[in-house]
Amino acid sequence: MPETFLIVGCGVFGLSTALELAKQGHKVTALDLYPIPSKWSAANDLNKIIRTEYSDKFYAQLAVEALKSWENDPLYQDVYTKSGRITLSPSSIENQHRLRFEDQGFENLKELGVDVSDIKHLTTGEEIGLMFPGFKDNELGSINARYNPNTGYGHASKSLIKVYEESKRLGVQFIFGSQGHVKEIINQNSIKVESGEVYTVDKILISAGASTGFLINLQNQIKATGLFVTHIQLTSEEYEKYKSIPIFFSAELGYFFPPDPINHQLKIAMTFSDARNSIQDPFDSSNRQSLPRYREEYQNDTFPKDGEYHVKLLLKKLLPELQNHDLIKSKVCWISDTTDSNFLIDKVPGLENVFVACGDSGHGYKFLPNIGKYISGIIQGTEKDQVLKDKWAWRSTNDWSKQLSSRAKRPQIDLNNSIIDWYIEK
Ligand SMILES: Cc1cc2nc3c(=O)[nH]c(=O)nc-3n(C[C@H](O)[C@H](O)[C@H](O)COP(=O)(O)OP(=O)(O)OC[C@H]3O[C@@H](n4cnc5c(N)ncnc54)[C@H](O)[C@@H]3O)c2cc1C
Ligand SMILES: *[C@@H]1O[C@H](CO)[C@@H](O)[C@H](O)[C@H]1NC(C)=O
Ligand SMILES: *[C@@H]1O[C@H](CO)[C@@H](O)[C@H](O)[C@H]1NC(C)=O
Repeated sequence: MPETFLIVGCGVFGLSTALELAKQGHKVTALDLYPIPSKWSAANDLNKIIRTEYSDKFYAQLAVEALKSWENDPLYQDVYTKSGRITLSPSSIENQHRLRFEDQGFENLKELGVDVSDIKHLTTGEEIGLMFPGFKDNELGSINARYNPNTGYGHASKSLIKVYEESKRLGVQFIFGSQGHVKEIINQNSIKVESGEVYTVDKILISAGASTGFLINLQNQIKATGLFVTHIQLTSEEYEKYKSIPIFFSAELGYFFPPDPINHQLKIAMTFSDARNSIQDPFDSSNRQSLPRYREEYQNDTFPKDGEYHVKLLLKKLLPELQNHDLIKSKVCWISDTTDSNFLIDKVPGLENVFVACGDSGHGYKFLPNIGKYISGIIQGTEKDQVLKDKWAWRSTNDWSKQLSSRAKRPQIDLNNSIIDWYIEK
């Protein structure tokens, strides 16, 4: 008898695994409370950066593998745009770790044999203006930046739909709505959904993103972090003028993408601060844990008002003509952070056939084409790479005071412990 698999949560990790298992000929059922792209998925977005620069060579290699699929696999080609990316290295002393991260990322590409001859080091805003007419009015002045043309972005929501459709074609059974909304793990082979049904299978994967902590006792390994995102609407004329800009990334100022070719919206991600939402841990009444809250219940969750200043500052520096556009489609987007930014993909202790894949730490999207291969290997016990298994293993010690990500250095707003003056859209 072939094994049966149940996947809970159809975001990046869940869909990628569903497709891989279906390719291998397994019987797979995949559940989500929303149809794809789910409103709760961190990847339900216009676009996401696909980069290969990582200070950890392990992820650099994984990203190089993923990029090959984005560029060459017919499933991903149409939802990938090779826009190039400018990365502005931080100037302040507090952000020096980020500078090291970026320098090491470049060194690692060289060591992996990637051709880096096209990557340019940039020292003035003027150079950027000469390379990209859309940036000709920038006010950057003297800088430390790199331009990598061999990189780009994924059309995030669209790529989820692509993988969903391909998985369905290969026989994955998808169930959405209250029959797909998992409420409880009953035992090592069964889960219960909102509508009351119980599903019993050979193996269960919980890949519910930032919400995984509602279903599994994650023992303080994960904190949900909310990232603030907004957009501006370009006119057709503005679109023509700015359509060829690369991604502009700064860990200090925030970052943005070229305008979308269909709706001409330009997505801006903020870095002035992030959100936490501390509530009682569902599995440990003595502990408070950050878990997401969503728009259905909290319609006002856009971004704290002072974020507007930071967005305008970023636009003023790079695209001054667009600085007074209204900010639209603002939102909090929840990711699942670990202390060391390594994913958490392992068996759940005490539940023999239940596995978890979360802890994306805000960098999981780019692996949509290949993460499922590794997750399915871990679930089936066939993954041989011990380095990978160790990196993603269930960890018993978690020192949050030593969190590695640059997010740890940013101010955090606890949504359940503060009165927030939210930005109101016009
Ligand atoms: C603003 C922002 C920018 C980002 N930028 C990048 C980037 O540039 N590059 C990059 O590589 N990554 C980026 N990421 C990270 C990337 O989006 C995540 O790593 C990725 O989406 C994580 O995938 P996941 O499958 O773990 O979770 P998700 O994609 O969040 O999916 C979780 C799924 O589980 C479902 N679910 C939750 N609870 C239940 C339940 N009880 N029952 C059934 N289903 C459930 C949800 O509906 C959702 O579909 C960014 C994230 C954000 C928020
Ligand atoms: C929010 O925090 C308070 C304590 O500060 C707590 O009593 C309350 O239960 C929390 N809200 C939720 C939804 O857990
Ligand atoms: C949203 O803001 C409005 C206006 O301030 C307020 O009346 C409403 O209660 C808020 N909604 C939620 C869910 O907090």
